[in-house]
Amino acid sequence: MILVTAASGRTGRSLVRALVRAGKRVRAADIAPSVSELRDHGADEAVVADLLEPGDLRKAMQGIKSVIHIGPLFHHREAEIGHAVVAEARRAEVEHFVQFSVVHPQIEALLNHQAKLAVERAVIQSPIPFTILQPMHYLQNIDVAATVRSGVHRKPFSHDSRLAQVDLEDVTTVAAKVVGDPHHHYATYELCGSDYVNGHQIAAVIGEVAGRPITTELQPLSDFASSGRQRREEDEFPYDAMYRLWGHYSRYGITGNPNVLGWLLGRPPTTLREYVVRELQAAATDN
Ligand SMILES: NC(=O)c1ccc[n+]([C@@H]2O[C@H](COP(=O)([O-])OP(=O)(O)OC[C@H]3O[C@@H](n4cnc5c(N)ncnc54)[C@H](OP(=O)(O)O)[C@@H]3O)[C@@H](O)[C@H]2O)c1
Repeated sequence: MILVTAASGRTGRSLVRALVRAGKRVRAADIAPSVSELRDHGADEAVVADLLEPGDLRKAMQGIKSVIHIGPLFHHREAEIGHAVVAEARRAEVEHFVQFSVVHPQIEALLNHQAKLAVERAVIQSPIPFTILQPMHYLQNIDVAATVRSGVHRKPFSHDSRLAQVDLEDVTTVAAKVVGDPHHHYATYELCGSDYVNGHQIAAVIGEVAGRPITTELQPLSDFASSGRQRREEDEFPYDAMYRLWGHYSRYGITGNPNVLGWLLGRPPTTLREYVVRELQAAATDN
């Protein structure tokens, strides 16, 4: 049985689907009660568990052979959660620990990278055979249907910056392939897409596929502002983390090499154009 943490989120849902497709047995765990919906998508078990609660974590880990740990997004205690999951996996004598990290976790100015670097260290230092996956910013952060509807590609960082965004479906296909396979023990895999493009180029590809012009617009950070009355760390942390990330993307962009992803998939990574076509076909089917 494979334990997937943060299973009810965007990454987790895609991962559970990929594991089910690959014929694996899955226990999905998340603090959100919506995790129970994953039973309808083929998960064998779904448990509501707060990873910060030792009792919940222990129960979630019972009888587990492999763990795929996804850290909750922009969580002020992400590193602590990761350490707790590694410690409990060790206690439960788990045979393989797959850590969902991020590309270039050594960019420590970024709070989400900082947390993942700390968890990578704990994973590497534990006696459990591990595989670390380092995905780039997902292509799924581009809402193609909404962009076509509005005619505007909007995002909160510079459209001049280039990123090598990756298809989340490629990433979770790889995770389902490596988990439980000793050939992938002690490996760290950077998972990046092959299009190293800026926002203007993304808008042009969407425009070509949709057959209408798409402009670009910088989304103001105020769209993401907290109420200002909140002063607790857990409330402010996600905004601090997001602002740092977008500031970094604006200044430096972020890249990486797609070769490893292609090798693991046994085919080239999904391109930006393929992603756009797929999203528009899915939107047409939904309507
Ligand atoms: N988005 C990207 O482009 C990208 C790229 C590379 C890596 N990543 C990484 O992938 C990870 C997952 O991102 P995501 O977009 O899938 O996140 P997400 O959709 O926000 O899902 C995170 C899930 O974790 C749950 N959660 C929060 N606190 C928890 C706790 N204490 N115990 C158990 N579950 C808890 C959340 O529940 P609630 O919603 O109820 O809080 C949510 O269901 C993040 O670490 C992110 O940094 C993302």
